[in-house]
Amino acid sequence: MLIDGHGRTVDYLRISVTERCNFRCQYCMPEKPFSWVPKENLLTFEELFLFVKVAIDGGITKIRLTGGEPLLREDLDTFIKAIHDYKPDIDLALTTNAYLLSQAAQKLKDAGLKRLNISLDSLHADVAAKIAGKNVLPQVLKGIDKALEVGLKVKINMVPLKGINECEILDILEYAKKKGIKVRFIEYMENIHASKTLQGLHGDEILAKVKEKYTIRALGREGASPSFNYGLDDGTEFGLIDPHKQDFCENCNRIRLTAEGNLIPCLYFDEAMSIAAYVKDGDIQGAADVLAQVLKDKPKENRWSEGGPNEDNISSRAFYETGG
Ligand code: GTP
Ligand code: 5AD
Ligand code: SF4
Repeated sequence: MLIDGHGRTVDYLRISVTERCNFRCQYCMPEKPFSWVPKENLLTFEELFLFVKVAIDGGITKIRLTGGEPLLREDLDTFIKAIHDYKPDIDLALTTNAYLLSQAAQKLKDAGLKRLNISLDSLHADVAAKIAGKNVLPQVLKGIDKALEVGLKVKINMVPLKGINECEILDILEYAKKKGIKVRFIEYMENIHASKTLQGLHGDEILAKVKEKYTIRALGREGASPSFNYGLDDGTEFGLIDPHKQDFCENCNRIRLTAEGNLIPCLYFDEAMSIAAYVKDGDIQGAADVLAQVLKDKPKENRWSEGGPNEDNISSRAFYETGG
């Protein structure tokens, strides 16, 4: 078992396989970064897999592949299959914008992928285009349908933004209900890479929109998930991811690995340690030692709890680099 310096069990590894993305979401990467990480600095899937084995042997039971957009990386299904074959009962999931999903869904399922979380911020093509920087909606909806068709479990993530898609909270909930999938509404997390004018809805404001139509019941946090669940009278469940709230970090069970090999103990925390040199050398013990050190140093709370982000203290961590 992997236990951090504050006694929390860490069993969830998020791996960002690429920082590149085919969307330019306003809350994440409105502009193409000045430069991408050079290809030669990216860890290969073989190198990433060496670390995956160390992590699984240590006690990781859930792995989520993220990006950027993970489906942009070639041979992702081969990597998924390697992880699946190493530990078939692992909770193996992918977070994607779904643009390339309709072509990839069957291959991903066959490789052993179990679950998908998909960003869907609007059901109006023009609004979706305004958020993502290009016309994405038809492809995304096709991707969701294909994933369901091949038997992948799907959840939807929506980031409600003031004056942009806030009026669609109920519509997205209805869409998810109709498809029999769960939606999680995510508070916009401020970061220096996002569009400057962006304002997210606070968790209470999101719930107020749902309450305009429904009576809701608080169901509680699902284990160590960042999502707090709510239920409607008809049994529908939805989630709220509200990292601005104080109790968010108490049960945190996750660490993050970037495509370059930086092991990050917390999303809102700038420190990281690199495993790159060790996995390139095939040094299993070296990689395991870095993992142990990162767990020891994992902060008790994200930096927001120290006063909250403000004009001078907005996270410089890029969501596209860490995979959210
Ligand atoms: P499940 O396995 O389905 O519970 O997925 P997940 O919520 O772990 O993954 P997903 O990639 O869908 O992330 C949803 C949102 O939660 C994203 O906006 C993430 O940035 C955010 N999130 C996940 N973990 C953390 C965390 O440790 N801290 C903060 N602040 N946000 C997080
Ligand atoms: N705030 C909140 N959520 C974000 N995501 C990306 N950037 C942000 C942000 N700044 C979400 C995406 C995706 C998930 C991995 O993270 O919507 O669904
Ligand atoms: Fe790409 Fe996801 Fe960032 Fe949007 S939120 S730009 S889809 S990585």
